[in-house]
Amino acid sequence: MERERENAIYLKLFWGANRKTWNWWSRKTQSIVLILLIFCFIAIFCVISSWINLLIFSGVSFSKDKFETVEAPKVEEFPLRCTKGNETQICPRDYPTSHNPSRSSNTTCPAYFRWIHEDLRPWRESGITKEMVERARKTAHFRVVILNGKVYVETFIQSIYSRDKFTLWGILQLLRRYPGRLPDLDLMFDSDDRPVIPSKDFQGPNSGPPTLFRYCADEHSLDIVFPDWSFWGWPEINIRPWKEVLNDIKEGSKRRKWKDRVPYAYWKGNPFVAVTRVDLLKCNVSKENDWNSRLYIQNWIEESEQEFKKSNLEDQCTHRYKIYIEGWAWSVSEKYILACNSMTLYVKSKFYDFFSRSMVPLQHYWPIRDNSKCTSLKFAVEWGNNHAEKAQAIGEAGSNFTQEDLSMEHVYDYMFHLLNEYAKLLRFKPTIPPTAVELCPETMACATNGRWRRFMEDSMVKFPSDSTPCNLPSPFDPITLRDIQEKKTNAIRQVEIWENEYWQNINKTKDNSMA
Ligand SMILES: *[C@@H]1O[C@H](CO)[C@@H](O)[C@H](O)[C@H]1NC(C)=O
Ligand SMILES: *[C@@H]1O[C@H](CO)[C@@H](O)[C@H](O)[C@H]1NC(C)=O
Ligand SMILES: *[C@@H]1O[C@H](CO)[C@@H](O)[C@H](O)[C@H]1NC(C)=O
Ligand SMILES: *[C@@H]1O[C@H](CO)[C@@H](O)[C@H](O)[C@H]1NC(C)=O
Ligand SMILES: *[C@@H]1O[C@H](CO)[C@@H](O)[C@H](O)[C@H]1NC(C)=O
Repeated sequence: MERERENAIYLKLFWGANRKTWNWWSRKTQSIVLILLIFCFIAIFCVISSWINLLIFSGVSFSKDKFETVEAPKVEEFPLRCTKGNETQICPRDYPTSHNPSRSSNTTCPAYFRWIHEDLRPWRESGITKEMVERARKTAHFRVVILNGKVYVETFIQSIYSRDKFTLWGILQLLRRYPGRLPDLDLMFDSDDRPVIPSKDFQGPNSGPPTLFRYCADEHSLDIVFPDWSFWGWPEINIRPWKEVLNDIKEGSKRRKWKDRVPYAYWKGNPFVAVTRVDLLKCNVSKENDWNSRLYIQNWIEESEQEFKKSNLEDQCTHRYKIYIEGWAWSVSEKYILACNSMTLYVKSKFYDFFSRSMVPLQHYWPIRDNSKCTSLKFAVEWGNNHAEKAQAIGEAGSNFTQEDLSMEHVYDYMFHLLNEYAKLLRFKPTIPPTAVELCPETMACATNGRWRRFMEDSMVKFPSDSTPCNLPSPFDPITLRDIQEKKTNAIRQVEIWENEYWQNINKTKDNSMA
């Protein structure tokens, strides 16, 4: 009784109800109202959460008529399907074999795609015969045949590390991104460092050089450049797929603003792969000299023992300037250095990879002499610290290049156009070589484990692209090509003139003070 009265007083205060209505309330309506309230809450919650879902997953703006018709885009995923307890993996046959994207790309590919035409120019008149392909076999590590959208590979010799595996993995992913879009083709791939097809031996339009794909070339060779394996990961030294590293470096480089970074040039790597790198080490800070450079040796054996904790690329965006120097040939490190939002100090290179030819000195990087590295570095850092805004902009343009032009989507588009243009030139119908095996993600990834497996899964294309590849720009006309080269040469010469003036002044004051 006492308790009922307390309740009544409480409710009277609350609802303004008298004692009689309270009795009625307490027995029936109270529970009905409670249930109704709960229903209301659930209903409101559902509506709100479905709005939020729609907003997040379809990116629709809050407009009423769109609201009723919009659905999240249908995406079918095709995960890795390993057959368990069996060494022999079966290639699934239900991955799409044709590509019907929801939209067609309306963008022109980045400028470096124009070099595809230059790389294939030696065969533009003659086309590519089976004999030219066969002749490239001499140094090739493997041969790739694509027939009706399936990939077959014939291995001749073992590649260094897992270069061949991750390159082939990349080609498989390209086919998953654009199923049925690539024509039949047959190519030889040399996964070593240095180009081997000298252009001086093949002059004139019908000289018929062998067609050999590799990761880099130089101005004296006709090797066809193709993206290197590291875009899908380099498990031996724990460099993850490019797409992820790029994201991490982007985040990592936000940690320290350009102005707050160490105002010196930084390099960390293995110097013992090339004379020019050993030469670079002379520019390290010492008791006698400060060339504004801080150089470190990467000891891969030690770092692998420590699980690569000290070689995180995203933790290496701490200096205002980062040095790029090639190794035995082009260096995989180039894109990671450029991505840091630091000004790249680019030591003059002999070799080029598929994207570096369209980078412009003083726009994307600062050129450094290869025959007087220390004086060149000293001046570059001095200039940068005195022109902070300009130096910062060069660093940013280099990073933007890696974020935009060198995004994984563009790398796939580059491979697509290169292989497509190459296939157009073939004068024979490719056939499956007798000793070739069919490759698919299952035969590659399921057979491996640990870091290798993880990198493959992380870089796997899980569904076809929802648009066509970007549009391949037309070939350079000779005048444009000459202008581009001239612009580059002039920018480099300009820097060398500044450099000479700087050193003349210093030497003069030195001489004066000595006299
Ligand atoms: C493994 O797969 C192969 C090829 O499909 C098949 O012939 C074989 O019987 C399978 N073995 C087992 C143990 O399932
Ligand atoms: C493609 O780009 C052109 C010019 O930028 C534009 O006029 C056109 O509407 C675009 N088409 C599509 C399908 O987006
Ligand atoms: C360069 O100098 C720094 C600072 O003295 C030192 O820590 C580093 O080990 C040197 N690097 C090499 C390669 O000798
Ligand atoms: C780099 O990209 C950002 C974002 O797109 C843009 O705001 C900035 O102006 C670009 N910087 C340079 C130097 O191109
Ligand atoms: C000035 O001195 C430096 C260092 O001693 C030397 O390497 C360089 O050749 C000199 N440069 C000029 C332009 O006199």
